[in-house]
Amino acid sequence: MTPPANFDPREKLFVALDLPSVNDAEKLVATLGDTVSHYKIGYRLGYAGGLGFGRELAAAGKTVFFDLKLHDIDNTVREGVASIAEAGAHFLTVHAYPQTMRAAVAGREGSRLKLLAVTILTSWNDVDCAEAGYAGTVATLVPAKAQQAVALGIDGIVCSAMETQALRAAGIRENIDLVTPGIRPAGADAGDQKRVVTPRDAIRGGATRLVVGRPITAAADPVFVANAILNDIAAAQG
Ligand code: C5P
Repeated sequence: MTPPANFDPREKLFVALDLPSVNDAEKLVATLGDTVSHYKIGYRLGYAGGLGFGRELAAAGKTVFFDLKLHDIDNTVREGVASIAEAGAHFLTVHAYPQTMRAAVAGREGSRLKLLAVTILTSWNDVDCAEAGYAGTVATLVPAKAQQAVALGIDGIVCSAMETQALRAAGIRENIDLVTPGIRPAGADAGDQKRVVTPRDAIRGGATRLVVGRPITAAADPVFVANAILNDIAAAQG
């Protein structure tokens, strides 16, 4: 398949800024320069000043994904999402509970913020689902919750690269982002990720955006690794 003329692999790579301080994040962003345009800020950096840093990144023209996995009462979710939208963020995760998703959709109204739903955490197996009181299994719950998320106006699903094909087969259309962590360049250390997929295989399998943390953040040469991943993404499109 020939990539579209305006295809930019950087649109598909989020670097996870899982770093202890804003100072560390600033240094990495400066090192990566124009090589990386999309960043994810999660609990670690977010609770250490990272929300303000994300606002600065967005103002500087970067695409910012707050991975805060929100879940609370309606009013709290709606107002929290409105604050995130006001900060200029582009993406935000919420847990895929109907009331939470409806409140999030209401909270981002009128903004550019896209909402991503977390269906079943990829660290859960069927025993964890049963322990939490779910009647289904991972294989039945992930597509069912994803379909519900899309029906409620959510823009994308966070999932394992091993789930993307099943989600597309379950009717999750191409206009819905499938955002996949657990990505490792060929030969890289998997760390604590149990099931890893290369950038090329993830894109070929239907992922639209990849989240990569430690292979880049812990690299001796982060620019080299990021470029290798971007080349792999481009190869998947070629
Ligand atoms: O360092 P690594 O590439 O493993 O980082 C993956 C990132 O994606 C982390 O920020 C992690 O919290 C996030 N993530 C994940 N698995 C999920 C959801 C999010 O690894 N199911």
